Amino acid sequence: MSRTLFVTTALPYANGSFHIGHIMEYIQADIWVRSMRMAGHTVHFVGADDTHGAPIMLKAEAEGITPQQLVARIAAERPQYLNGFKIQFDHWHSTDSPENVELSQDIYRQLRSAGLIETRSIEQFYDPVKGMFLPDRYIKGECPKCHAKDQYGDSCEVCGAVYAPTELIEPYSTLTNAKPLLKTSEHFFFKLSDPRCVEFLQNWTTGENTRGNKRLQSEVLAKTREWLGHGDGEANLGDWDISRDAPYFGIEIPDAPGKYFYVWLDAPVGYLASLKAYCNKVGIDFNTLLDPNGSTEQVHFIGKDIVYFHALFWPAMLKFAGRKTPDQLNVHGFITVSGEKMSKSRGTGISPLRYLEIGMNAEWLRYYIAAKLNSHVEDIDFNPEDFIARVNSDLVGKYINIASRAANFISKYFDGELRYQGDTSAVQANWAEAAERIRNDLEAREYGRAIRDIMAQADLINQAFDTAQPWIVAKGLTDADTEKRTLLQDICSKALAGFKALTVMLAPILPALSHRVATELFGMNRDFVWSDAAVAPTRINAFKHLMQRVEPSMLDALFEPPTVATPEPQSHIPGGEPIAETITIDDFVKIDLRVARIVNCEHVEGSTKLLRLTLDAGEGRHRNVFSGIKSAYQPEALNGRLTVLVANLAPRKMKFGVSEGMVLAASHADDKVDAGIYLLDPASGAQPGMRVR
Ligand code: MSP
Ligand code: ZN
Repeated sequence: MSRTLFVTTALPYANGSFHIGHIMEYIQADIWVRSMRMAGHTVHFVGADDTHGAPIMLKAEAEGITPQQLVARIAAERPQYLNGFKIQFDHWHSTDSPENVELSQDIYRQLRSAGLIETRSIEQFYDPVKGMFLPDRYIKGECPKCHAKDQYGDSCEVCGAVYAPTELIEPYSTLTNAKPLLKTSEHFFFKLSDPRCVEFLQNWTTGENTRGNKRLQSEVLAKTREWLGHGDGEANLGDWDISRDAPYFGIEIPDAPGKYFYVWLDAPVGYLASLKAYCNKVGIDFNTLLDPNGSTEQVHFIGKDIVYFHALFWPAMLKFAGRKTPDQLNVHGFITVSGEKMSKSRGTGISPLRYLEIGMNAEWLRYYIAAKLNSHVEDIDFNPEDFIARVNSDLVGKYINIASRAANFISKYFDGELRYQGDTSAVQANWAEAAERIRNDLEAREYGRAIRDIMAQADLINQAFDTAQPWIVAKGLTDADTEKRTLLQDICSKALAGFKALTVMLAPILPALSHRVATELFGMNRDFVWSDAAVAPTRINAFKHLMQRVEPSMLDALFEPPTVATPEPQSHIPGGEPIAETITIDDFVKIDLRVARIVNCEHVEGSTKLLRLTLDAGEGRHRNVFSGIKSAYQPEALNGRLTVLVANLAPRKMKFGVSEGMVLAASHADDKVDAGIYLLDPASGAQPGMRVR
């Protein structure tokens, strides 16, 4: 039975480029979608940028552009990543779109008619200088429990305490350093504590979808049970504050001037907005597609950090707005790089774009990530040695190798014709069964298991080939040796039939490679579908090289920050080095130099060269920067001083932590010339955040 699926991935915040965590999520979803399509199902796979909220508004303001301009700039980057990693979305949209405004407001009105919206006056911190209410992350102060300084408004990074921003001692606004005032304002709440919501969510989270499958993974269900209580009527669910006051970049709340939807209200609605825009583009009826009683399956791929929104708020919103609710939530863990967590916003680790730029094959990463994924909410690690081993020994060494070994005999002796000795039906049944096993594993998101299975089959094909020793059969072969010829053709044909079957099984993971195998090697005029695995091929074209091995040096390049070549020191020139090559003003303005205040400076244990600087560049957060100026400065001497920061330098992972920029200092090119190091100082009056140009 052919199914219709509506599949999404989480909508990435439009305040930054994709990082490897995003790409991993898209790869997981894309493999699933491709496998479903190969089975003949109809899949509508959409994404969008999540554009609203305070951080994007403030970031745009800091850059002197409108939020729309910021969002457009980020949106323009998306295709090179998506195309580069072969992620086949049908449509990519934006939450800042007419479709989303209409749908969000509609859903809100329906919730209001259902009696699930309530207004309440709440007291909140307000920045009198900036003239806006402050989200918790823009308030800092002393931890009420352990008295650590400069802790965020919601929790302490030192002792782990969780508290309300109003409990902070000596709170300050990170935007202006002003002391925030408590101010009252009317907020809108979605009444999740309403017994109807609680009952619905208890059923929805524990129940089954129309296919008789669980909607949630067991560990996700366990989490929602914690949040919802255990059906004993003691729900812990609070009402959800869905409004924010102007100034806010968001969607206006109907009949409430100056009030906007909190970004998490309109963000998931963006899934529907993207689908709707897509439906309009291709002529599908959106309402029929998402009929609450219809058969379309709605599947969301998300990370473990946003389960609360997707397992509670989102289904409840949809349900009480009279809409279709999700059928399946596929939650994945996080990807770490060499065991290190990366920051959600900065996304250090591996740059996906750099990966592509240095010529690494997107399908190596797709294969590697697939090999590590399963259906549980487990973190996975990108480990360079493991990556090289899996790609080179398994993907290339076991799988690709089958074709390169067998195809040449067929081309050389049989003009591309494949022929099998005896009845092939048993072999074909074997491949049909194997493909069905893999298809099931992929549907269940047991990608790692599928790949282990595929590699075990590749081992068997290689062993059979080695045992048959076709190179010995082919030695001195003449046209008259019919028996030997039949044997050789049979050995190689079977290996190639196996290679074809394995390629079908790997097609969702390796779409470009499988396309080449289908069209170039087997001369087909379409891509593989699942049923192709069981069809023994009858011809091949000349074998062309299919996939390179990973060069270990590529991984060095992937992790190394691009280095600026420093010319040989020349002692006869002042400063010890000639003036660098001419650049244009356009080159220069790419470097964003900002005045920054050194709010803290300290020694770095174990380093003879570095000092650790904590910088305030007027961004509402602090930066950590390591600087090789230890020989010239005592840390205390720098506290409170202003300097100049290269603010848009890519963050760099160093031995002691991540450095988020670089401060400017003058020195002689030659270390051995003891001329000193001089940190740059803006003249007095300059303020943190001012640009240097
Ligand atoms: N904008 C929200 C989602 C709104 S959905 C209606 C958001 N955006 S995000 O850009 O921070 O994250 C997007 C997705 O990337 C989320 O599913 C998140 O879990 C995932 N990941 C972020 N960091 C990740 C890793 N390190 N590893 C894997 N996925 C990660 O949240
Ligand atoms: Zn504390």
